[in-house]
Amino acid sequence: MDRYIIHGGTTLNGEVEISGAKNAAVAIIPAALLVQGVCRIENIPQISDTDTLLTILAELGARVSYLNKSTIEIDCTNARYQDAPYDLMRKIRASYYLIGSMLGRFGSAKTTMPGGCNFGVRPIDQHIKGMRALGAEINVRGGYVYADAKDGRLHGARIYLDKVSVGATMNIMIAGVLAEGRTVIENAAREPHIVDLANFLNSMGADVRGAGTDTIKINGVDTLHGGTYTIIPDQIEAGTYMVAAAATGGEVLVTNIIPKHMEGISAKLREAGAFVEEYEEAILVKGPAVLRRINLKTMPYPGFPTDMQPQFGVLMCLADGTSVITEGIYDNRFKYVNELRKMGAEIQVDGRVAVIEGGRRLTGAMVHACDLRAGAAMVIAGMVASGVTEIDDIHYIERGYERFVEKLNALGAEIEVRYDSGEDAKTGLYSVS
Ligand code: EPU
Repeated sequence: MDRYIIHGGTTLNGEVEISGAKNAAVAIIPAALLVQGVCRIENIPQISDTDTLLTILAELGARVSYLNKSTIEIDCTNARYQDAPYDLMRKIRASYYLIGSMLGRFGSAKTTMPGGCNFGVRPIDQHIKGMRALGAEINVRGGYVYADAKDGRLHGARIYLDKVSVGATMNIMIAGVLAEGRTVIENAAREPHIVDLANFLNSMGADVRGAGTDTIKINGVDTLHGGTYTIIPDQIEAGTYMVAAAATGGEVLVTNIIPKHMEGISAKLREAGAFVEEYEEAILVKGPAVLRRINLKTMPYPGFPTDMQPQFGVLMCLADGTSVITEGIYDNRFKYVNELRKMGAEIQVDGRVAVIEGGRRLTGAMVHACDLRAGAAMVIAGMVASGVTEIDDIHYIERGYERFVEKLNALGAEIEVRYDSGEDAKTGLYSVS
């Protein structure tokens, strides 16, 4: 099995440049299907999730090419309606955006129920509610979602989301762009990648207003044209390096970021005693001699992001005192706790609450990456621990972190990668060396 082998006890120092935002890219790539023309997209992260989506678009007839490592051209002018490849779609969560983009472009969609990280039940009822409100008939049978716009085109509608959902908000935005008339999404999510998707769509000729607030208004247009767009930096990738710097007691300048997007993470790191200084497009983090305990609760943006919860879980194992983490988004996002226990952590979990006894010395162990962010957390734990930590199931990590090991090793980590399967998970169909 593919593994990371981490020699612990290292301190991270230096500068790391952040890649484009995964959760923006995985919506923007499917949204390119709406565009008749060439979309040049800059700051695309080279990760397996974006590779999978690009492969799916290519299967639908899009022309996809990399101009350099992070700039891509997608031309969906000649894309045609057909079943999207099942095995690829079920690998990733973001395949749900093909419901919106195929419906918007072709008036029909057949997709799999989405895959992705398993944090308990992750329904898509709000996506379906939105598509139905826009006039689509939706049936879920045999693991597939079948969607058909009743008269071939969607019609704008007012949709109130019963739950603040990033995916449903973006999917309805994608579907609403080419719908006839006005779509209003109420109780919309406000994450930075929602604003990014709106900016991408608007740069291609859409009329989306209010993204970043809880009410988004979309005036449908007849066509979208090509253009150039630059994806925002990845808030969670940046946050992961910030925590890694604090946990290892190092000093890292995290560059190519939007510090405003990092506010919740920076605030909690400061509360834990780290030195955090913001610059225009960078943040410097210095780990303290002693980390302080904190409590945190994950919430929709601008609250503290659930995708940073496992990394902070590791940090709190090192703090002086007892910390409490409350998971406000998912039912089951503490699976990594069992792995941390193998390394000597003392954590009690009751439902959505974890109580972490700090001040424990972590020791190297054989552990799993239970999911993407849990995997990143285990890498941080491995760098802090004494001895050697082996992490398997690293394909989860490579779904979302571009050149993770290379970037960490450049900061002073000692991590080896063993691809026993013989595959280089980082080199996908659209990768360039
Ligand atoms: N939910 C429903 N019904 C729906 C949709 C969501 O009940 O129709 C619930 C979910 O079960 C969850 C909550 O609403 O309890 C929020 O889910 P949301 O829809 O916001 O999450 P998502 O779209 O499935 C995206 C990211 C996740 C990130 C969450 C929250 C993508 C592809 N995934 O998931 O990213 O955790 O938003 O910010 O954009 C990650 O990057 O590691 C990751 C898991």
